[in-house]
Amino acid sequence: MKTRITELFGIEHPIIQGGMHYVGFAELAAAVSNAGGLGIITGLTQKTPEDLANEIAKCNDLTDKPFGVNLTFLPTVTSPDYPGYLKAIIEGGVRIVETAGRNPEPYLPYLKDAGIKVIHKCTSVRHSLKAESIGCDAVSVDGFECGGHPGEDDIPNMILLPRAAEELSIPFVASGGMADGRSLVAALALGADGMNMGTRFIATQEAPVHPRVKEAIVGASELDTRLVMRPLRNTERVLNNSAAERLLEKERTLGADLKFEDIIDEVAGVYPRIMMDGDMEAGVWSCGMVVGLIHDIPTVQELIDRIMGEANALISDRLAGLTAVS
Ligand SMILES: Cc1cc2nc3c(=O)[nH]c(=O)nc-3n(C[C@H](O)[C@H](O)[C@H](O)COP(=O)(O)O)c2cc1C
Repeated sequence: MKTRITELFGIEHPIIQGGMHYVGFAELAAAVSNAGGLGIITGLTQKTPEDLANEIAKCNDLTDKPFGVNLTFLPTVTSPDYPGYLKAIIEGGVRIVETAGRNPEPYLPYLKDAGIKVIHKCTSVRHSLKAESIGCDAVSVDGFECGGHPGEDDIPNMILLPRAAEELSIPFVASGGMADGRSLVAALALGADGMNMGTRFIATQEAPVHPRVKEAIVGASELDTRLVMRPLRNTERVLNNSAAERLLEKERTLGADLKFEDIIDEVAGVYPRIMMDGDMEAGVWSCGMVVGLIHDIPTVQELIDRIMGEANALISDRLAGLTAVS
């Protein structure tokens, strides 16, 4: 399938694996890229720029297809060494960067000078237009359904994507709630040039996370996510567990007085314990509503082949059949 996104990134299928903390390691990124999508290493999961350089080198050993690195500019307790990470990306020969969180403008010149294509993740049309105006090559439009940080506007993709299509000139992918061939065809119909998936890629053989994380995804329904940290204007969609319930109880009790320090036990440094040790109650972890559509743990190749098979059949059989004159 050829779209503006496959052309821009030199990939076979318009499917991107979004950056995911403690999930987006070289093994997963390479598997996605080898299957014809765009795999992405999560920059900040690597503790130092040197670690990121090693992860990029590892990915280069595992695939000769294009892959990207995610750089997330979110409020963190201590500010990461962004210039160091950028240097590792540029020197590692990475051609694509997914930025997310705050405005990436201060770092864009370094990326552009190195010939790197930038896709910025946005949760609103106004942020997407801003990304376009500062020179990003594409955007990933993250709807209210998404796992992770959906922003504060709460606009689902059924509205957000066609609104983005109305306003944007640069290519964009649909992100949030995407799982299968139906998602891809719907995303294309709504004006996107492809799709970005997070949660779906965690439940794959190659995702280097504890089996209990994959089982939790397969076992959950679309009713099982919660929005936390809304009072801090840092809303995150997570899978419900005892930590999420405790956090929400603190939000109810403390109201407007809630501070980040009050919920530090539930959110800070919990990802390694969940993703690597499989301690599923250690804290809150991002997960999308799409969890209700995930029923198996295929290989990445099987997943991507299935999505493309379904999408092609939907377009040429079901949709073409509906318009055929009898
Ligand atoms: C466990 C997990 C961790 C994530 N970590 C990050 C991250 O570090 N940086 C980022 O930009 N997005 C992160 N995301 C968001 C994904 O890249 C993607 O935008 C989102 O999952 C799309 O929604 P979906 O889960 O419905 O597919 C994360 C998502 C999940 C599920």
